[in-house]
Amino acid sequence: MTRIVYYTAATLNGFLADSNHSLDWLFAVDDAEGPDIGAFMDAMGVFVEGSSTYEWVLKAENLLAEPHKWQQYYGAKPTYVFTSRILPVPEGADVRFVSGAVADVLEEIKAAAGELDVWVVGGGDLAGQFLDVGALDELFITLAPAALVSGAPLLPRKVGADRLTLRSASQQGQFAVLNYEVLNPDVFVVPGAGAAGEDAGEPQ
Ligand SMILES: NC(=O)c1ccc[n+]([C@@H]2O[C@H](COP(=O)([O-])OP(=O)(O)OC[C@H]3O[C@@H](n4cnc5c(N)ncnc54)[C@H](OP(=O)(O)O)[C@@H]3O)[C@@H](O)[C@H]2O)c1
Repeated sequence: MTRIVYYTAATLNGFLADSNHSLDWLFAVDDAEGPDIGAFMDAMGVFVEGSSTYEWVLKAENLLAEPHKWQQYYGAKPTYVFTSRILPVPEGADVRFVSGAVADVLEEIKAAAGELDVWVVGGGDLAGQFLDVGALDELFITLAPAALVSGAPLLPRKVGADRLTLRSASQQGQFAVLNYEVLNPDVFVVPGAGAAGEDAGEPQ
């Protein structure tokens, strides 16, 4: 069964990027033995990201000018980008723009993944939108030895130990890798349908 996994690097104090969307703090880590995501990538059939993350990837990898790199990273697997805007697409890339409630596109995203899993790349609020509707199954957080004063948050939601179970904690180079199972009670099906949990979607 397709699982939806939020995998990201973060600072010790829970940021994905600084206030200018920079990942300098991450690239400054000596990652000679850092996380190898090759096997993880192979298990993913679909990538999901918000528009800031998508625009960061386009720019950082110069993908509009060098679209062949997209296939190197993502192959033919589709990427769903949540946005209210019209954004450019690297030539030949399977990028699908969606907008609005996660619940409305959830089945489409899962179907696109086939037998494989879905990687929610980020940002944190988008991962939270999946959590809100009981659709997030797993977290992989690689904590870097860094902290920031402000920036893009890892998971801006109120969520407690009743919904998160630590499955493993390991060291990979300078990163601490935390893997959590997310418990999704049946009542967390779809906010708006009258069945959401009482804290679903409540920002901290
Ligand atoms: N450390 C890491 O490994 C890691 C991983 C992932 C991301 N990042 C970085 O973290 C930062 C995340 O940025 P962010 O917090 O702004 O999050 P984001 O999810 O990348 O982008 C947020 C934007 O996506 C659009 N969006 C989100 N949900 C939507 C919905 N349901 N319907 C329509 N549009 C929706 C909205 O923009 P519009 O509607 O205006 O387009 C929203 O402002 C980026 O700099 C990224 O590069 C780092």
